[in-house]
Amino acid sequence: MAVTTRPVDLTADLGFLRLRNPVLTASGTFGYGLEFEPYLDLAKLGGIVVKGLYYHPREGNPPPRLVETPSGLINAIGLQGVGVEAFAAKVLPRLRAIDTAVIVNVCGADDDEYAAVVEFLDAQEGIAAYELNISCPNVKKEGACPALAPEPTFELVKLVKSVSRRPLITKLSPNVTSIIEIAQAAAEAGTDAVALVNTFLAMAIDLETRRPRLGNVYGGLSGPAIKPIALRMVHQVASRLTVPVIGLGGIMTGADALEFLVAGAAAVEVGTASFVDPDAAARIIGEIVSWCEAHGVAAVRDLVGTLAVP
Ligand SMILES: Cc1cc2nc3c(=O)[nH]c(=O)nc-3n(C[C@H](O)[C@H](O)[C@H](O)COP(=O)(O)O)c2cc1C
Repeated sequence: MAVTTRPVDLTADLGFLRLRNPVLTASGTFGYGLEFEPYLDLAKLGGIVVKGLYYHPREGNPPPRLVETPSGLINAIGLQGVGVEAFAAKVLPRLRAIDTAVIVNVCGADDDEYAAVVEFLDAQEGIAAYELNISCPNVKKEGACPALAPEPTFELVKLVKSVSRRPLITKLSPNVTSIIEIAQAAAEAGTDAVALVNTFLAMAIDLETRRPRLGNVYGGLSGPAIKPIALRMVHQVASRLTVPVIGLGGIMTGADALEFLVAGAAAVEVGTASFVDPDAAARIIGEIVSWCEAHGVAAVRDLVGTLAVP
């Protein structure tokens, strides 16, 4: 008798958004998505989180802007981008044609710019949600980014939520003492989900010249080096908050992604891995399916938050 096996149910549920599968691409590591069309079928992805958008185009930081470390990458791109008008005119129409969730990563030099970006994008079709990058330095607050303290996090999330007609995912910075306090502030202000983590503040030195390797001196560390810390933060936040958590930080394989789901993330984002292997996100989806088949898991979402803590 032939054995029939049902395909693994990969759908992920964020409450406000149902995804084909739990694998999204992380902002800034996948361009506007379209650059990766030659390498993987974008419609296979759970979703694409596009590069951070300010209202106006930005040049970013002076080079060098990327340094490789033994198990990660330090970047100081400085949120280079095309601005909302060019994004809406040239990029969004092409993204809209792809059958996947498009999430726009929103930045601002101050709270008003974040709100202006969202108000502009609200008039455009084809966006599933916003991901609020609260790690941008606030020019009016001496460069402190909102994500570093609960109050500015609360204020910014509340403001953006009040002007937005779309669901809001607040992306948290790990460069804080208590990630739980910041996540709670975002939740109290009405965010629909939190995503964590962004990069860890880091630096690299060229010993021979005794100069910093990055034009900006400091940058953000991503990749496998940060995975254990990101996992800890995702678990801490997911076990205390009721809003859905999207986990990221150093996911290179399907097993890494599954660990984040078990820790409590409803979905994951793949970042630095796409630089190493442009079809990493599609490969990771395939590895999740294989693992579930081998372990008799019928629906991936049944794994979310199943960590057995002694
Ligand atoms: C080159 C580069 C650019 C990035 N740009 C953004 C960005 O525009 N907005 C944002 O929220 N995060 C940005 N990030 C952070 C990533 O989205 C992600 O949070 C981080 O890299 C950790 O995930 P990973 O270890 O899988 O790369 C960037 C990361 C890198 C490496």
